[in-house]
Formats: sequence, structure tokens, C-alpha cells
Amino acid sequence: MVTGSNKTELVAKTFRGLEEVLAKEIEQLGGENIRIATRAVMFRGDAEMICRVNYHLRTALRVLMHLHSFTACDEHQLYRGAMEYDWSEHLTNETTFAVDGVLNSPHFNHSQYIALKVKDAIADQFRKKTGSRPSVDKTNPDIRFNLHISGDKCSILLDSSGESLHKRGYRTAGHSAPLNEVLAAGLVKLSGWNCNSNFVDPMCGSGTIVLEAALMAHNIPPGIYRKHFAFEKWPGFDLSLVEKIHNEDYPEKEFRYKIAGSDISPEAVSIARNNAKSAFLHRKVEFRISSFENYIPPEGGGVLIVNPPYGERLKQGDPVLFHSVIGDTLKKRYEGYEAWVFSGNTDAVKKVGLKPSKKIVLFNGPIESHFHKFSIYRGTKKRN
Ligand SMILES: C[S@@+](CC[C@H](N)C(=O)[O-])C[C@H]1O[C@@H](n2cnc3c(N)ncnc32)[C@H](O)[C@@H]1O
Repeated sequence: MVTGSNKTELVAKTFRGLEEVLAKEIEQLGGENIRIATRAVMFRGDAEMICRVNYHLRTALRVLMHLHSFTACDEHQLYRGAMEYDWSEHLTNETTFAVDGVLNSPHFNHSQYIALKVKDAIADQFRKKTGSRPSVDKTNPDIRFNLHISGDKCSILLDSSGESLHKRGYRTAGHSAPLNEVLAAGLVKLSGWNCNSNFVDPMCGSGTIVLEAALMAHNIPPGIYRKHFAFEKWPGFDLSLVEKIHNEDYPEKEFRYKIAGSDISPEAVSIARNNAKSAFLHRKVEFRISSFENYIPPEGGGVLIVNPPYGERLKQGDPVLFHSVIGDTLKKRYEGYEAWVFSGNTDAVKKVGLKPSKKIVLFNGPIESHFHKFSIYRGTKKRN
């Protein structure tokens, strides 16, 4: 168990394409020995760091603590490897647990099966020592282990977050295609917006990008809304650290510019307003019902991020062709803005028709997505 100032190996998971951004956040929070992997950042930290990163990281989906590594090429070696570790450090007969498996190996076929083998090893070790065993609860366990197998390298990690950290706790109702909060925060960070100008999302849907920008602008930690983190149920974890992190003083930043969202759908705007209220941000952001074509952005320029519809059919026509309207509107109304378009459709984003000054590829889960920057000056020309 991680106690006091003992440092341990930690892994923060994220979307592919956000690793650098996440590594920077971890560095700012004091993480040590930071190393970047695909969809993950490894670092070292103590128990206080585990609280701190769960509470503050905007671009992490979850944070895991490394427990045990070994090599295995078949299920017997996997079982034996899992048996080598003393699981009573993390479990008692009264705690419930679950094991999730992630697999990238020619030696094993099914992630559920390998997870089952490790679950058996843990249960058998308890039964041998105590005559009984902790129960499995797949949906809401007290303790969740993650098993990763890459080739013959097996690692077992302990999940410190519980529910994915994108579930900030401010979302009141679903909208048809809300962006994941971690991805939205990542887009704001990748855009380079330094909280020193206006910020706009004129197709805001449920308001995710706008709300994540507002949290950053006012220096509000995303963990403030969360009721629980998994590490709070770890046996022996110093719960006074949670109080300490929660009560630390985060001076709210003064913000002199506008953070605004608009959407053509009254229902979406109503959801965005409710989400803003539940995040106590309703006095800090403004949501309006308006088409993108007619919306007048705040004067003085700034940063715009838009995540246009691309999968579904639009009332006004083809979603790919609609990107040409986006290009026209940016040129007409957004002089002085740095505009970023996030789309999972390569053909669509090309139709914007302006020359991107930056192109970033990232993955929204399995979907390869494009985040293109267009700087809009007086006289910016469309390409076609
Ligand atoms: C992919 S969703 C955006 C989701 C949003 N990022 C969120 O997190 O909820 C695209 C949004 O564009 C809006 N939309 C479609 N056509 C529009 C238009 N012409 N003007 C303004 N909004 C539009 C839709 O109503 C929808 O809410």
C-alpha cells in the first residue's frame, strides 16, 4: 500500500493524441520521472500525488497504480505470476473486487478470460490463507484491478479513479453527441488558448467545450464536482489527504473576456445552460440559440473551437457540404479569431476550404479525428 511519502509508479490514461498535453499537466502538478506512451503517461508520485492528479488533471481518463509485473506465455504462467503477489495488501474478505483485462499479445486470445484467470488466482490465494475469499462485483467493486498484457509482459495495476475522470459530475442530461469532457479539455489545451482572450463554440451542443474552457479560465479543478474517487476505499489510505487537497486554496482567476456558446437547437442550449448551472458556471458563460451562420461572436477576436455534426443528416443538407458553409462563415464573421475545427470526417474538414495553419490528428476512441486551425485575418481567402 502507498503510504506517507513513499513514491510509487503511476499510469495516467488518456486519448491518443493528448499524451503530450497530459504529460505537461502532470509535470505542473509535480509528478516525477514522466514518460510518454501510447494513450498513457507514466510517472512517479506518493499518496498525496494520487489524490492531487485525480482531483486536478483535466486530460486524464483514469490514474492507475502499478502493483506487480511478470512474464507469461500461457494461462498457467499467468495464474502462477498473479499468485506471487500478496493481495491481502489491498483486499480483505469483506471488500468486493473486479479485474479488467487489456490484451495485445499473440499468446492470449480473450481479455475476459485472462481477467478471469487473475481473478481466480486472487480468490484462491485468499481461500488458501483464510478459508474464504472476497466477492467479485463487476459493476461497482470496492477495488478494481487492471491487467495489461503486451506480448509476454503482464502487469497488474490498481485503479485509483473509479468512474472515468471524464465524468466530472456537472452533466445533467445527455445530448445526442456530447463530446467526452477529457477530449474537450484536451482540445482547449491543444488550441493554445491562454485564457487571455474571448472563447467561443458556436455549435456548442451540451456545452462541453465551453464549460471545460471556463473551468480553465477560472482555475477551477475538475475534481471539485466529484463525490468519490476509488482510492478513498483503499485499505489504509490516508483520507486526510483528500481533505487537504479539497481545502487547498485555488485563487480563482479574474477573467475579463467572454466565454460563449451557441447552437441552432433550443434543446441543446437548454441542456448547456443546465450543465453550466450545475457546474456553478452560469454567471461566467453565455449560451444563445442561434445558427452558426447568424451568430455574432464577441468583439475583439479570440479562439473558436467547433465540433460540427458530421455523422448524422442535417435539416439543411449534407454534413460534409455544411463544412463549406463553416468556411464561408468563418471568413465573414470571425476576423481576428483563431478558429479550430474538430471533425471525425477527413472529407468534411477539407471542405472548409481555408488553408489550415496547423493540423493535429487525434483519436476519439477508435475514430481518427482531425483538429485543424484556421487563422482568420482581413482578406483571408477561401481555396475553392
Ligand atoms: C457534434 S454536436 C456538438 C456536440 C458538443 N461539442 C457537445 O459536447 O455536446 C454538433 C452540434 O451542432 C449543432 N448544429 C448543427 N447545425 C448547426 C448550425 N447551422 N448552427 C449552429 N449549430 C448547429 C447541432 O445542434 C449539434 O448540437
